[in-house]
Amino acid sequence: MNIDFAEQDPARIYSIMAQTIMPRPIAWVLSEHENGSYNLAPFSYFAPICSDPPLFMISISKKPDGSLKDTRANIIERKDFVLHLPTWGQLEAMNASAATLAAGVSEVEELGLELEEFAGSRLPRLADSRVAMACTLHEVQEIGNGPYAMIIGRLHHIYIDDIAVLEQSEEKIRISPKILDPVGRLGGPRYTKLGKVVALARPE
Ligand SMILES: Cc1cc2nc3c(=O)[nH]c(=O)nc-3n(C[C@H](O)[C@H](O)[C@H](O)COP(=O)(O)O)c2cc1C
Repeated sequence: MNIDFAEQDPARIYSIMAQTIMPRPIAWVLSEHENGSYNLAPFSYFAPICSDPPLFMISISKKPDGSLKDTRANIIERKDFVLHLPTWGQLEAMNASAATLAAGVSEVEELGLELEEFAGSRLPRLADSRVAMACTLHEVQEIGNGPYAMIIGRLHHIYIDDIAVLEQSEEKIRISPKILDPVGRLGGPRYTKLGKVVALARPE
């Protein structure tokens, strides 16, 4: 099969890209509404893009009614946010947090999720997170016809649950992918759990 994207509509292009560029990590983003409530939503158009400074991007489309998604509006207005990498145990809560709620209605409260203070962050993190990152908005660019907002975020602090840290010294830190137990996004409503892990030395 050979598909010419010039002949596909955006929904079909999305479907093909989402089913082939996978598994994708999920950024589970907590941001703050102007009324002080905490918004939570998952995004899988998400990738690290630079280590110096530490930057990543998430791409956010609009709500079905054409208004800005709450995460996008909150990040642009208040700049800081917390990005979690959901574990397999958080799969259902992560999926439920994608419901389109009115702006200012908290998914954290609706789902009864517990929060914890996050040293180095004004905002809290999800209490049962294994990885949480305190971030600020670095840059935002409108892209495509959505238009999507490519949010470039900067990482300031990272929380890693001690149970996942296998080794730590001045030179290196080794983190267990199995214990982080990340959710991978496939196409449509499908997800995958981490499978076999192999280590390969890089060729010279
Ligand atoms: C696993 C998963 C990944 C998603 N990835 C994206 C994404 O990359 N970009 C996007 O705009 N919406 C994505 N969505 C949909 C948003 O999570 C959804 O529109 C959500 O209601 C946005 O919430 P907000 O308005 O509170 O920001 C995803 C949904 C799920 C379940």
